[in-house]
Amino acid sequence: MFEKNIYIKRRDKLKKRMKSGILLFMGNSNIPMNYKGNDYRFRQDSSFLYYFGIDRPNIAGVIDVDNNKEIIFGNEDTMDDMVWSGYRESLKSLCEKTGILELKPYGNLEDYVDKALSKKRDIHYLPQYRSDNAVKIEKLTGIKSYFVNKFSSSKLIKAIVEDRLKKSDVEIQEIKKAIKISKGMYEIAFKETVSGRYEREVLGLLEGYAISKGVWLSFPTIFTSKGSILHNYSHENLLKKGDMVVFDSGVESFEHYASDITRTIFVDKKATQLQKDVYNIVLEAQTNCIDMAKEGISFLNVHIKAALTIAEGLIDLGFLAGKADDVVESGAYALFFPHGIGHPMGLDVHDMEGLGEEYVGYDETVKRSNLFGLSSLRFAKELKSGYVMTIEPGVYFIEPLIKKWKGGNAFKDFINYDKIESMFDFGGIRIEDDVLITQDGCKVLSNNIPKQLKEIIE
Ligand code: GLY
Ligand code: MN
Repeated sequence: MFEKNIYIKRRDKLKKRMKSGILLFMGNSNIPMNYKGNDYRFRQDSSFLYYFGIDRPNIAGVIDVDNNKEIIFGNEDTMDDMVWSGYRESLKSLCEKTGILELKPYGNLEDYVDKALSKKRDIHYLPQYRSDNAVKIEKLTGIKSYFVNKFSSSKLIKAIVEDRLKKSDVEIQEIKKAIKISKGMYEIAFKETVSGRYEREVLGLLEGYAISKGVWLSFPTIFTSKGSILHNYSHENLLKKGDMVVFDSGVESFEHYASDITRTIFVDKKATQLQKDVYNIVLEAQTNCIDMAKEGISFLNVHIKAALTIAEGLIDLGFLAGKADDVVESGAYALFFPHGIGHPMGLDVHDMEGLGEEYVGYDETVKRSNLFGLSSLRFAKELKSGYVMTIEPGVYFIEPLIKKWKGGNAFKDFINYDKIESMFDFGGIRIEDDVLITQDGCKVLSNNIPKQLKEIIE
């Protein structure tokens, strides 16, 4: 936990933004893997962590804005809990550490909400991404669990998005701690990605390193020589001479702030000329985006810059034809770069995606495109200083997509299908760093993880 005043100030700021009502934060519970008591690793809800900091299952937080009251609903450990799971700091003590003086048994939450509803008071809650919490809200409010998200509070979502997007110094320090551990993982990966090994053998070394540092992952690790699949979670391939591995991974700091880095690693540190050429296009796209990202620049334009750089590079290599501007405007470039340039990062690796991408990444000034590729851009609005964003362009040769577009003669004036058909085994290349937006530029927080070709091949 951070020190008490941080949480008190965060809640005060939220109260000011909301002006009235009751704000209900459902903490997360343990989720059984295959039977009760055999649980997945516990992960607290990120907004709960942001405002209350208590990293324990089965608690809820309430902020009564009108009466300036804050309550944690949760139960102290029973003797059985202590015998089986250990004895630890009391919930009362944790409440004091987060500046909350009222702790009530979890069972009292129902009565509390009943009373508030009977007085016709507004209860604001966030969209629920776990069905057990949706069922709990049904029990509390009477709203059917499958309708719960329909009635979540857009006012609360907007207030929280404003608060959480801009990172404070202590948050940036946490992100740096996560990146430092990631750096260790990438050092291992550059050394251990050799032919004759299975991907899963290297994966064990990488994730083992994170565990040895006392942390866990911010999302499932991608470590694959079949990098044309954007989120390939299989680790079963044997690494061969000539392969490239997309290694996209992150960890969470002790306070649950994420890192999210991608490097494309050449097996045995050897690359063909074509691999180098495509790699340099992706690196140039990333460098151009990093050079332009700063307060006041729209992230949509950062994405377009990446698309233009990639289009120019692929025109030079003969995979695309025509003018780069036209290729980008048409959307043809997305055959090779079918995802967004990046996303905000913080307590969630895709920060606040659970609250709704439209609230986080779009506003009245910018609406989501429905063009393939661009429609996957998670964040398009203007950057502000204090935002932490990923910048992660990529180029992929995706066999089923190429075949589908070729079958439909899609963008046939721009795409040189005959040349592309020899590329089905090429895979993919992605390079991703985490950057802090400032008034006059952006600071690459992960810049000490090598990515220049001369640093990573022999
Ligand atoms: N690093 C995985 C992603 O951003 O989707
Ligand atoms: Mn990412």
